[in-house]
Amino acid sequence: MEPQPVRSEYKKVWSALSTTPDQAKLHVIGVTDEDALRATGEETLRFLQQSVGIRQDDVVLEIGCGIGRVGKVVAPLCRKWIGCDVAANMLSLTATRLKDLPNVELKEISGYDLRGVEDSSVDVVYCTVVFMHLESWDRYNYILEAFRVLRANGRIYVDNINLCSEGGWKVFETHHAMSPATRPPHMTQNSTPQELETYLTRAGFCDVRIHTDDDWIRASGVKHEQDS
Ligand SMILES: C[S@@+](CC[C@H](N)C(=O)[O-])C[C@H]1O[C@@H](n2cnc3c(N)ncnc32)[C@H](O)[C@@H]1O
Repeated sequence: MEPQPVRSEYKKVWSALSTTPDQAKLHVIGVTDEDALRATGEETLRFLQQSVGIRQDDVVLEIGCGIGRVGKVVAPLCRKWIGCDVAANMLSLTATRLKDLPNVELKEISGYDLRGVEDSSVDVVYCTVVFMHLESWDRYNYILEAFRVLRANGRIYVDNINLCSEGGWKVFETHHAMSPATRPPHMTQNSTPQELETYLTRAGFCDVRIHTDDDWIRASGVKHEQDS
């Protein structure tokens, strides 16, 4: 048997987790039914609207778009939606699921950066249900890359499960109970609110807001004009 790839070999890890549509959907959000997928996509859209907002003129980019769960409800509301993912299998499912939306562009990325996306060309970058699968350095690098590709007054949204919440601690304890050898490479690693706040501030974002109303951290910021 081949040894498991390590966590940071994102392309290998996530290509192997998305070889069939149902397997991909389960790893994205734990459901396969299209109505359920739509309902969860609309829930994420609500968080985006409450934090960064989605406007008709916006070019919106998602880091780690998976099967286009969120893109399917965001794309009809904006000028262009760019779905980026490390796994080609995920992107081909997005292409199928979003085939009727004319303003969708898909990009396979390295897993560490947004190479190929021009500086100052995007209005909103968001990354949801992805940071828990990344090494912390790679989380920060995506925030730096978001800063690079955002225009002046561009907005960013990122999230993760909150280690400091009751639910987040339960997730941590469950994984703590597993032996190191059996923990899969995509295993959830939570953030603290301070971690995400630090990354956004250090990357240069202003108006950094951190919401911790439930077991999640939802963080947003703005790239001010003078920072471009
Ligand atoms: C749990 S899914 C979430 C998908 C989507 N954001 C959503 O909420 O429906 C995680 C996604 O992140 C992608 N991914 C994992 N590591 C990545 C990386 N380093 N860079 C970009 N995408 C990555 C996976 O291929 C997968 O599509």
